[in-house]
Amino acid sequence: MRRSPRVILVTGGAGFIGSHVVRRFVNAYPDRHIINLDKLTYAGNLANLKDVQEKPNYHFVHADICDAQAVKEVFGRWQPEAVVHLAAESHVDRSIEAPDAFLQTNVMGTATLMNVALEFWRGHFEGRLFYHISTDEVYGSLGNSGYFHEESPYDPQSPYSASKAASDHLVRAYGNTYGLPYIISNCSNNYGPYQFPEKLIPLCIHNLTQRKPLPVYGTGENVRDWLYVEDHARAIELLLEKGQEGQTYLIGGRNEWRNLDLVRKLCRLYDALNPFGHKDSETLITFVKDRPGHDVRYAINPSKVEKELGWRPSVHMEEGLRRTLQWYLDNEAWLNAVVSGAYREYYSRMYERR
Ligand code: NAD
Ligand code: DAU
Repeated sequence: MRRSPRVILVTGGAGFIGSHVVRRFVNAYPDRHIINLDKLTYAGNLANLKDVQEKPNYHFVHADICDAQAVKEVFGRWQPEAVVHLAAESHVDRSIEAPDAFLQTNVMGTATLMNVALEFWRGHFEGRLFYHISTDEVYGSLGNSGYFHEESPYDPQSPYSASKAASDHLVRAYGNTYGLPYIISNCSNNYGPYQFPEKLIPLCIHNLTQRKPLPVYGTGENVRDWLYVEDHARAIELLLEKGQEGQTYLIGGRNEWRNLDLVRKLCRLYDALNPFGHKDSETLITFVKDRPGHDVRYAINPSKVEKELGWRPSVHMEEGLRRTLQWYLDNEAWLNAVVSGAYREYYSRMYERR
């Protein structure tokens, strides 16, 4: 079955992955309405969507997914046929420092959204979909071999991954109990433009430009499977259109890197671009205290999504990293505003008036 929802509610569309998804949908479907519901936490930034904000099929709603009344108003006004749910607290280190917001948004927020969807869809589920975007971290940590696949047991190790695991279980439970039509996808590490510079790659790029230390946790042996964010957004579009209801799909780049090798690679690419005459960037690499409970290795077997949807990652790591580096160098103002928190002050002034 091919779905073509006329109104798509994207949650967390002002964040990193969400902004790529919203941009893709707004440009691809001028005849459909794309509603971006976002709380604009520290990670949400409307500047990520500047290029589409004036398009007539794009609509922004400033709201919290935990606020049932606000979510009902959106459903009442727009009658979305599909929800693409990305809103979340997403950073593992923050979840270790302060887990409460993760439980609130990732667990309760997901439940609130589903409760409202059930109320408005009232058993008329034909052509409707609740698409929950999740992470490979719910499966815990791999040793040196093996891959996560759709049947891997859940074994989350951080408050972040436990909150995402809880939300995955809730989505399946709502499907099983109430018949909510859903899809879940669990993706590996994304990278690319507009990623908040708390995550490894943009943090290192920012520190490279500032000649600050590049902090590598522990010995840098941990492995992640990297995917260029636009490839993830394309997979999300395909799954929304053609994914099978009630199914889970794992998405990954078949692209494993040890953290230390990745940071070294970034240094070499940066030195080759040679902005500001900087060189010998590898000397900035600094080993720091490890993340508590640091998962050793993530790696995805994406054959299901490859076979069913013909999806393949299209951006090679070398090209993706070069594009990402160049984007951050070309968008120094974006990076500085995010790092200084200037955009947050602007939002609190702007939304206080409402
Ligand atoms: P992000 O932190 O960049 O963005 C999250 C967005 O959600 C922000 O715009 C924020 O304002 C919004 N948000 C947070 N709490 C909210 C609330 N209560 N109500 C409404 N909006 C709220 O995150 P990201 O990296 O783009 O990740 C998006 C989704 O994809 C998350 O669900 C994450 O778990 C998942 N994911 C991320 C990755 C990755 O590598 N970044 C990989 C796999 C899955
Ligand atoms: O696997 C998918 C997950 O990828 C997503 O669900 C998360 O939302 C996303 O944040 C990401 O989680 P990670 O913890 O893997 O990403 P992060 O960029 O924080 O770290 C990547 C690796 O680099 C990890 O092994 C920790 C390490 N690291 C991270 C930072 C911020 C460092 O060595 N130094 C650092 O300063």
